[in-house]
Amino acid sequence: MPTLLHIDSSPRLEESVTRNLSAYFVRRWCERVPDGLVIRRDVGVAPPPHPDALTLAAATMTEASRDPRQQAAAALSDRMLEELEAADVILVGAPMYNFSVTSGLKAWFDLVSRPGRTFRYGPKGQEGLLRGKQVVVITARGGFYRPGAPDAAAEDLQEKQIESFFRFVGLDDIHFVHAEGQAIDALTAEGERARARTEIDCLLAS
Ligand SMILES: Cc1cc2nc3c(=O)[nH]c(=O)nc-3n(C[C@H](O)[C@H](O)[C@H](O)COP(=O)(O)O)c2cc1C
Repeated sequence: MPTLLHIDSSPRLEESVTRNLSAYFVRRWCERVPDGLVIRRDVGVAPPPHPDALTLAAATMTEASRDPRQQAAAALSDRMLEELEAADVILVGAPMYNFSVTSGLKAWFDLVSRPGRTFRYGPKGQEGLLRGKQVVVITARGGFYRPGAPDAAAEDLQEKQIESFFRFVGLDDIHFVHAEGQAIDALTAEGERARARTEIDCLLAS
């Protein structure tokens, strides 16, 4: 069954631009894939804890060798890993916070970066272990970062970080849809959201 993992990472709810756009993507995807399964992971409303020493140690152990404390510490990252491995399409709603991602999304990256499951280091360096998944990332930004735009001089670390993470775990079919200019004025913001919806339609049509 085609499976979509739908991740949101904005702490905001109804007013969140990325939530509205990712929900639009999911509606359209379900129309096109009526037998599809959607797995929901919300790291904005329910951010995973920052990984601590116990969780990180438990993550490198087999399930059978963990004691109950270690098993409890690794339970959430185990579940998030299963969701990631089950997905054919990974959809991420990602607000830009301080030129990068929200701390909830960063914690998700840290918790699903699992040696032996999503990556390994070998004689040739790092190797991603996931294969054959499409990644769609919908971002929202207060300013504009595209080449030539007023804020382009400030570094867009967000796209760079998200792309680096997915490449690190072996996924390089990554498409970004940006809704920029959300803090400029209402007309600009809505124009950008409409453009993003059109881009989503084109993406799904292809
Ligand atoms: C804590 C915080 C940091 C932000 N940092 C940036 C930034 O570095 N650059 C930018 O263009 N917009 C920044 N913004 C604006 C958000 O990217 C913008 O409001 C976006 O719509 C948030 O996504 P959401 O609507 O899905 O919550 C920031 C907003 C907040 C609350």
